[in-house]
Amino acid sequence: MAADPHANLNDDSETVDPAPADRPTAEGGIAGGGALWHGRFGSGPAESLMAYTESISFDRRLLFDDVTASQAHVRGLARGGLLDADEERAVLEALEAVAAEERAGRLVAHADDEDIHTLIERRVTELAGPAGAKLHTGRSRNDQVATAFRLWSRRAMAELAAGLVGLARVLTDRATAAGTGADAPSIPGYTHLQRAQPVLLAHHLAAHAWALLRDADRIADWMDRTDWSPLGAGALAGSSLPLDPAGTAADLGLARPFENSLDATSDRDWVAEATFIVAMAGVHLSRMGEEVVLWSSDEFGFATLDDAYATGSSMLPQKKNPDIAELARGKAGRLIGNHAGLLATLKGLPMAYNRDLQEDKEPLFDGVDQLGRALSAMAGLYATLRFDTEAMAAAADSPGAVATDLAELLVESGMPFREAHAVVGALVRRSLTEGASLADLVRAEPRLGPDAVALFEPGASVANRTTPGGAGHAPVAAQLRSLTAAVDAAAERWAN
Ligand code: ARG
Repeated sequence: MAADPHANLNDDSETVDPAPADRPTAEGGIAGGGALWHGRFGSGPAESLMAYTESISFDRRLLFDDVTASQAHVRGLARGGLLDADEERAVLEALEAVAAEERAGRLVAHADDEDIHTLIERRVTELAGPAGAKLHTGRSRNDQVATAFRLWSRRAMAELAAGLVGLARVLTDRATAAGTGADAPSIPGYTHLQRAQPVLLAHHLAAHAWALLRDADRIADWMDRTDWSPLGAGALAGSSLPLDPAGTAADLGLARPFENSLDATSDRDWVAEATFIVAMAGVHLSRMGEEVVLWSSDEFGFATLDDAYATGSSMLPQKKNPDIAELARGKAGRLIGNHAGLLATLKGLPMAYNRDLQEDKEPLFDGVDQLGRALSAMAGLYATLRFDTEAMAAAADSPGAVATDLAELLVESGMPFREAHAVVGALVRRSLTEGASLADLVRAEPRLGPDAVALFEPGASVANRTTPGGAGHAPVAAQLRSLTAAVDAAAERWAN
């Protein structure tokens, strides 16, 4: 095929249904509609077609990345001799002007700009004249959208990673402030939401921080896997023209070009992985939110929200509600839905590009927006949350919390654990049925005795959690050192 740039304006990717007999003519449809692909059609597209198939209403946020990718493409075309130096300059400047118009809020979309790619190409052609019409040489919107959306996603996910690390930092700071010294506050550790064993407050807060760091780490993995460019794959098979995919990849700051043009144009694994990462982080925030809801209730009384991060009731004057925490919990449902919905869209798509793939953007756009706002709100909430450490300690030091320590004491004197479990279980049952204090029963029990009663002293039980990574003072102090180092490293990795 000759290097006729216009030939590519009608690439075979433009999969608009052939005109049904009753389709409105150009008069009844949109003037100039389908401007990119109208060549083989006798009439313009129906209004309902444009209304249903457009994506400009949500893909406009890809504009700057599409401009970046288009500039790389133009430089590649020039290297291949497909644009001369004047044309190259004219098109690059026009692309820059389009970005400037968008920044200034002066870029107007036309009714027939079906997506952001169409809009940019239309405007570049208006600004650069005939040279502008060469922009789409050797390119399809299929490799174009895969490239622009990938660039956008990489920036957006990097920002989310910074937000995740920011919240992990807040939790780490609160954990460090809560401390690991002899007087450091503890709270009940729960399993099944039943009090199990006391843990340091710092240990509990740090647990959430580790989860958030894992989310950021997933983004780092994802960055490696998305570090290649689909540009040059064309509609599905590449081109007869001398394109330079490796050069455009390098121009875009990506490590390598695609290996397979079919895969490059139809792969949305990276979007699905991103919606998973967002959903997983959303689930972490949801668990944190549920905890704030519980802790700030009168029933728990472990924490009080700062006024700036709480809401009131329109009817009940006394109310102070944890709406941020509740929405962090509630919106996780939507983030999971975004991920599940995208996977359902991808399932069963034949090679290669199908218009279904246009449905890839909103789930991630929404997820990125929602998670970004949740991370800032939760960071503010946690930074200002007041802990009632007396209420926490009172609950942590409830007598039952010592039961496991008592059994372990018996184990140290040589008793098999199963037997020790039964001995202590029997004491707990007696204390419940006889209404006797567990400490008194322990003192009277010859195999335990007065030494064991020391375990009932406030803070004594948590001090027993000496396993590395466990909930006691020394291991938590060590943990906070590695957590701080991990947060520092992640913050460095994701700095701007
Ligand atoms: N707006 C489309 C999308 O987001 C661009 C690609 C359209 N390609 C096509 N062959 N119709 O997927």
